[in-house]
Amino acid sequence: MDKREYPHNFWQTLEKPIFILAPMEDVTDTVLRQVIARYGKPTVFFTEFTNVEGMFSKGEKHVVHRLQYTETERPLVAQIWGSQPENFAKAAKKLIDMGFDGVDLNMGCPAQGPVSRGVCSGLINDRPRAKEIIDATKEGAAGIIPVSIKTRLGFRAIDLAWIQFILEQKPAALTVHLRTVSEMSKVPAHWDRMKTLVEMRDALSSETLIIGNGDIKSLNEARQKVAEAGADGAMVGRGIFEDPFLFSEQTALSDKTPEEKVQLLLEHMRLWSDTWGTSKHFPTLRKFFKVYANGFPGAQDLRIKLMETQNPEETEQIVAAFLQSFSY
Ligand SMILES: Cc1cc2nc3c(=O)[nH]c(=O)nc-3n(C[C@H](O)[C@H](O)[C@H](O)COP(=O)(O)O)c2cc1C
Repeated sequence: MDKREYPHNFWQTLEKPIFILAPMEDVTDTVLRQVIARYGKPTVFFTEFTNVEGMFSKGEKHVVHRLQYTETERPLVAQIWGSQPENFAKAAKKLIDMGFDGVDLNMGCPAQGPVSRGVCSGLINDRPRAKEIIDATKEGAAGIIPVSIKTRLGFRAIDLAWIQFILEQKPAALTVHLRTVSEMSKVPAHWDRMKTLVEMRDALSSETLIIGNGDIKSLNEARQKVAEAGADGAMVGRGIFEDPFLFSEQTALSDKTPEEKVQLLLEHMRLWSDTWGTSKHFPTLRKFFKVYANGFPGAQDLRIKLMETQNPEETEQIVAAFLQSFSY
């Protein structure tokens, strides 16, 4: 890669191995990123995937909450998806103005809607359009912020020609979710292929950072898998539901007392409530209650009650009642 192309390529400044919190729609918003940053900060954060058509539509406000962030979440990459190359160029320009450190193209989401319109992972089957989108995003990013790509190993079958094609576009970083689109998340991630991807990177685009993704449950596992393949880093998504302290070197959720766990739950909820008020649907937060209300006597009962809560006040009351009963 021509170094002048990315004068501010933050990717090249990172200590390796690089650990990234995966983008997860309705999960990794600014609140969760702030919470994870407190518990144990990954090297890089990504936003939820944000639609470039939506960013410039009348319904913009229903889309751009995904791009809300605070300084504690840096370096932060905005992930985008969509169909029209010119909207990618416009979006990249806007993301520079908004202060993002990088822009990532979603070419891996297997959801039926986008795939049927030939976007997200549908682009695996339409390389000319994928190239137009990459080129338009680079044009919009103007060498000011780096352009990275997240994709899968192939559409119906493992397709190394797709990975080759992507590497030939010389993204600043390439994250590969080590499954095909057809595999969804139903089979174990093919970490045994990661070494081949690293070799391809070495041959085709030596400055592109290559990141593996899929099924990682701890920092040690991430380190081991990255080392075995010679990759630059690992991205972790669902593992944070088992331990939101996953990126911490010092501590795990399982080290916390029941009282500490429910206090963390309340702090998480209060930050969510202060940030979103009533602008987001409260039940989307309940998935995190299950994470904290776990692994102690009475946790199941508490979980069941918390799953019914409709607002912060009810949640506070249930937790207060639990703490009172717990102390006897
Ligand atoms: C609820 C959920 C939402 C997701 N949303 C996105 C997204 O917005 N963009 C994206 O590239 N991948 C998305 N993914 C995929 C993850 O980033 C990741 O590739 C996948 O979960 C595999 O990693 P893991 O096994 O560590 O979870 C999502 C996954 C989940 C479970």
